[in-house]
Amino acid sequence: MLDNLGNLERTHSCGQLRAEHVGQTVTLMGWVARRRDFGPLTFFDLRDRDGITQVVFNEETAREAHAKAKQPRGEYVIACTGEVVLREEGQRNPKIATGAVEVQARALLILNDARTTPFQLEVAGGETLAAEDLRLKYRYLDLRRPQLQANLRMRHRMLTEIHRYMDEQGFTEIETPIMIKSTPEGARDYVVPSRTFPGKFYALPQSPQLFKQLCMIAGLDKYYQIARCFRDEDLRADRQPEFSQLDVEMSFPTLERIYTLVEGYFARVFRACIGVELPVPFPRLSYAEAMRRYGSDKPDLRFGMELQDLAPALEGTTFAPFAAALAGGGGEVKGVVVKGGAKWSRKLLDELQEHAKRYGAGALAWIKLGDEVSSSLLKALGEETIKGVAAAAGARQGDAALIVAGKAKTVAASLGALRIEVAKRERLIPENVYAPLWVTEFPMFEYDEEGDRYYAMHHPFTSALDEDLPLLERAVEGGETQLLGQLRAKAYDTVINGVEVAGGSIRIHRRDVQRLIFKALGMTEETARERFGFFLDALEFGTPPHGGIASGIERTMMVLANTENIRDVMAFPKTASAADLMIDAPGEVDPQMLKDLHIRVKEA
Ligand code: AMO
Repeated sequence: MLDNLGNLERTHSCGQLRAEHVGQTVTLMGWVARRRDFGPLTFFDLRDRDGITQVVFNEETAREAHAKAKQPRGEYVIACTGEVVLREEGQRNPKIATGAVEVQARALLILNDARTTPFQLEVAGGETLAAEDLRLKYRYLDLRRPQLQANLRMRHRMLTEIHRYMDEQGFTEIETPIMIKSTPEGARDYVVPSRTFPGKFYALPQSPQLFKQLCMIAGLDKYYQIARCFRDEDLRADRQPEFSQLDVEMSFPTLERIYTLVEGYFARVFRACIGVELPVPFPRLSYAEAMRRYGSDKPDLRFGMELQDLAPALEGTTFAPFAAALAGGGGEVKGVVVKGGAKWSRKLLDELQEHAKRYGAGALAWIKLGDEVSSSLLKALGEETIKGVAAAAGARQGDAALIVAGKAKTVAASLGALRIEVAKRERLIPENVYAPLWVTEFPMFEYDEEGDRYYAMHHPFTSALDEDLPLLERAVEGGETQLLGQLRAKAYDTVINGVEVAGGSIRIHRRDVQRLIFKALGMTEETARERFGFFLDALEFGTPPHGGIASGIERTMMVLANTENIRDVMAFPKTASAADLMIDAPGEVDPQMLKDLHIRVKEA
């Protein structure tokens, strides 16, 4: 038989009581995290969102309540009234905030019962051991874990600070529609069929990009929004099909103005959420330099291990893989040095080779400067050259060098990934250190070999550096298409600890330049009109120079909450195949609904 709550008021939360409350009569309500019976004494760990308090029922002093206390099991919802007492020396639990006290309960209400949970909620060191699929199916139970609750509260703090900060900076929050037409971020769209227009579909926004630009054309000047974005793309640990951005756009901006605004934003959020002062201004690296030194456009600057060019030390080499890479045509041979790596086993080196191969490397060569010099290249290059290469890489006695040869892109990708992998394995990444930076001057276009065409690296509304604009004209109007690969954009990313937390650009505000860009992307006038006609029209009515940025809320939260799993910072996330295991979405719909929507589903 369950009890009614009636008029009983909760006086404190389960995380609140301290020695100063001793002697007070309190009423706590929450979930049974644990019950322990010791004959005349029954102990409960009572949990709510604030913490855990120990409640004890004593047969001698509260016979009736003690008898009743045999009933509640794990996750029952109960209310306890009693007196706060100091725990005896030796019984105190310094690990929890309420650990100095306990509640000597006189009365117990059993407000609700609970089935045995499908997985153990009680956690070891904040981690749960249950499989993630099971936890996602019962997300509301998983969310009872203090760690996830703390993350969600931090997310709330972050969103609150965003609104305060953007308001102080003179920005207006403007909501843009969710049911729109295809947007230009480059992933696949999620679409919604129209009932009123047979055969037509809305697309969900991949971002509010064009709407925020239209806000600038409308003269709204400074826009922001916490925007929901939807992208049907291959999911990774740091991507969700549905996520949130702090989306920002401003008129008449300089690059410096945007950098300052965004640095202020991150500084504010880090201070408010984790009490960390970010060093402002953030250092800046051009895309080219980031790729050259770190093999990544989102380098983790918390540790060194920069990529070293080994071409000079290999001049004239006849070793086929290196000679081929260095024979003109943009190939490279580069290496990274691992301090103390000479002690590494072959097995470990083989594992690293597999890792490098996943990022496209043909092979991973290594040199170990132990008591003797050992190397996978010993036969091919001889000891003298090997020593020269190791020295060029910056390796000292006791170190190892890892070397990859091939196309610049492959060398960067594989060595960049190895740099991170090795740093993790060797614990070279300091904790509680935050290394923000700007990566600037991204290429405008990237060449897609398979499709034999260029596509916009950021999006097609990004403007080129002023000094590179003549190249655009030559490439598009003069037929020197290959020049497109050299164009640099006024595009920038904010990176913190190797995570891309924001990305944006100064936009094209001139109709003639926008036309050139569409042409460069292989779009005919007709296609451009069909897709973005409304926007091209708008550009003809006095568009101010404008630019902006969007910062991933979840990505930033991942850095703040120190997790590599994006699902840890969202209440109701989806799996890697974009399923919601709790509500079982996507799901089938009623045949009548399909009929109304003019849709017939093909047998799979
Ligand atoms: P972009 O595509 O770089 O830019 O996105 C901006 C930021 O959003 C975050 N992000 C994601 N977070 C979680 N899951 C995803 N699938 C995901 N995709 C992106 C990242 C990223 O830096 N319209 C432009 C912004 C602009 O130009 O102003 C845009 O959306 O943190």
